[in-house]
Amino acid sequence: MNPQPSPQSPAPGVVRFYSFLPQGDRLSEDVLAGLALPQKSIPPKYFYDEQGCRLFEAICELPEYYLTRTETAILRGNIAEIAQFVGPEAQLIEFGSGVQAKTRILIQALQTQLYVPIDIARILIQALQTQLYVPIDIAMDTLRASSNELSRRFPFLNIVGICADHTRPIVLPEFVGVPIRRKTVFFPGSTIGNFTPAEALVFLRQARKMAGAGGVLLIGVDLKKDKVTLDAAYSDPKGVTAQFNLNLLHRINRELAGDFQVKRFRHKAFYDPILGRIEMHLESQYSQFAHVAGRRFDFAPGETIHTEISCKYSIAEFQELGKRAGFTPEKIWTDPEQLFSVHGMVAS
Ligand code: AVI
Repeated sequence: MNPQPSPQSPAPGVVRFYSFLPQGDRLSEDVLAGLALPQKSIPPKYFYDEQGCRLFEAICELPEYYLTRTETAILRGNIAEIAQFVGPEAQLIEFGSGVQAKTRILIQALQTQLYVPIDIARILIQALQTQLYVPIDIAMDTLRASSNELSRRFPFLNIVGICADHTRPIVLPEFVGVPIRRKTVFFPGSTIGNFTPAEALVFLRQARKMAGAGGVLLIGVDLKKDKVTLDAAYSDPKGVTAQFNLNLLHRINRELAGDFQVKRFRHKAFYDPILGRIEMHLESQYSQFAHVAGRRFDFAPGETIHTEISCKYSIAEFQELGKRAGFTPEKIWTDPEQLFSVHGMVAS
C-alpha cells in the first residue's frame, strides 16, 4: 500500500500529478514469475505502455467493439438523470481515465446542472471552483495528456492526477479547501471485467472505502450476451486486438531485453459461456523458446500465455457483487439492446 499522503489543497486550473507507482521494476518481476507458471500468464495491466494505450483507443473505435460507443450513448442519453443522482459539488474519482470522452460528458453535465438562472456566471465559477476531479491511471503519459486537455476545456476545474495501479490498494490524499458534498467513484469501460469476480469484490470494497458512507459508485459493466457478438468484439477482422495483445511481447522485447519472435505467436480470444468471460491468450505456433532478462522460457506448439480475462455479468449478478461490497444498487441505465449497463450504487 502507498504511504498515506498528506492533505492537499489543489488550486483551480492547476493540474497536479502524483505517482503512487512502486519504486523498482515490477514489470520484470511479474513477467518472470508469470512465464514460470504451468499456465504461463502476464497481468493485463502491462498492455498499457504508450503503444498499448494507442492500440486500445483504436479498439474502442472498432465497429465490433460495441462496448465504448454503447456506454458513451448510455451516459449521453441519461446524463441529466445521472447528474441528478450524483448531485452537485461532487468529487469525481475516476479509475483508468486515459480515454476521456466519457468523462467530458459527465463533467459537462455536472456543470450544466449548476446553470441555475440567477447569476449564471457567478454560480458557474463558484461551482467549477468547488469541483474536484481525481483521475487515476497507470500510464503517466496518458494521464498527463488527458488531464491537460481536460484542464484546457474546463479551466477552473481542480484536477489531481494520480498515477497508480488500481489493482493494488490506493490511499488518496485528503483534499482540503474544496467543498465536497459527495465522493463519486467513476469506473467506466467495464474494466471491472478484467478482474475475476473475487478480485472485483476486493476492488469494489476499496471503492466503497474511497467513496465513504453515502458516496456514489458509477460503474460501466458489459453484459452477458451471445458468443458470436462477444467473440467478434475481441477478434476483430482488422487485427487491431491482435496487435494490442501481441504488443505485450514487443514491450517485453523492448523493456526486458526479450527476444520473442513475435510473428511466431498468434492472438487467440474466445468467450467461455460457462465462466461468463472472454479469455485472451498469445499462442505459440511452433516449438520455440525465448529469453527474458537472461532467462529462457520454452514453448510447445499450441501452448499459450494467458493475457486477459474480460468477465461479463447479468445486471442481477453485478448488483449482487455490489451489495457484497457494501453498496446499495439504486440505478441502472442500459441501451435498448441490453448490450451494456451503467450502475449507480450508493455506499451504505
Ligand atoms: C480495458 N478493458 C475493459 C478491455 C476489455 O474489453 O476487457 C480491454 C480489451 N481487451 C481486448 N479488447 C479490449
